[in-house]
Amino acid sequence: MKIFSGNSNKPLAEKIAKHLNLNLSPLEIFVFPDKERRIKVEEKVLDEDCVVIESTGEPADTNYMELFLIVNALKRSGARSITTLIPYFGYQRQDHIFRDGEGVSLEVIAKTLEAVGATKVLSFDLHTPKIPEIFKIPVKELSALSVFSEKIKKDYDIKNIVLVSPDMGGIRRIKEISESLGNIPFATITKDRDLETGNIKDSGLNGEVKGKIAIIVDDMISTGNTMADAASLLLENGATKVFAYATHAVFSKDAKEILQNSSIKKIYVTDTLEISKEKEFEKLTVLSVSEIAAKALKE
Ligand code: R5P
Repeated sequence: MKIFSGNSNKPLAEKIAKHLNLNLSPLEIFVFPDKERRIKVEEKVLDEDCVVIESTGEPADTNYMELFLIVNALKRSGARSITTLIPYFGYQRQDHIFRDGEGVSLEVIAKTLEAVGATKVLSFDLHTPKIPEIFKIPVKELSALSVFSEKIKKDYDIKNIVLVSPDMGGIRRIKEISESLGNIPFATITKDRDLETGNIKDSGLNGEVKGKIAIIVDDMISTGNTMADAASLLLENGATKVFAYATHAVFSKDAKEILQNSSIKKIYVTDTLEISKEKEFEKLTVLSVSEIAAKALKE
């Protein structure tokens, strides 16, 4: 197996390669002055099984284009199979038509990946379980939940905690983590979003959190508003403390300030996206999914 990495998350790609006792294979990614890219595979890949690691967070368009070009270069160089490991899968939120006249961004990504030559997709904690259905090639969903449940087991008295999904879409996730911790109680927040702006209009709570440490688990943190609002609601409803766990640290706009100034005690995310120094803050801890990714690549 040969592992190639794009520019979006080299630290994670290096960690994954290390777990597999491999080095990243050489790739020239030349960036022209107008930011177009030209890719050159610098190692023989004829009849080889190749893996490309590229996380497609901001700038999603650039990272996707780079991924498409790398896959194309590997295909043209004769690779036998090309697995794309996309730790954070951008453009998955628009997975269906919400309002008349909209397109399906995820379908565009799926068709392009297949057209350039990808033979398999691996990704972490997808937004909905329906995503693999959009692809013709196999899609394997990996999860950071085992990393979170290990951390939760170690850090808290399980009897005193309640898990919380910050929206109804996260129920599958929260049930899974509850089961892995011995079916501990969970609550869900109902949140109503404005379909045009994406802003949260209204929220409510199903389940008992009074006197408990509330642990919110979500797939991603973008602006941080979902987590911050959920924490306030949980404290209003009697939770003693709130901690937050999310796989993907998208951290757009003022997420850093919103999260640092929120009533959440600590925020745990993973390295599916590279977190630049400027995006780090005191309450933040980054856990790694590299071992899970490496294990999945060996299967
Ligand atoms: C929504 O369905 C997702 O699971 C996240 O809750 C959401 O994307 C978080 O967004 P933000 O941090 O901007 O509130």
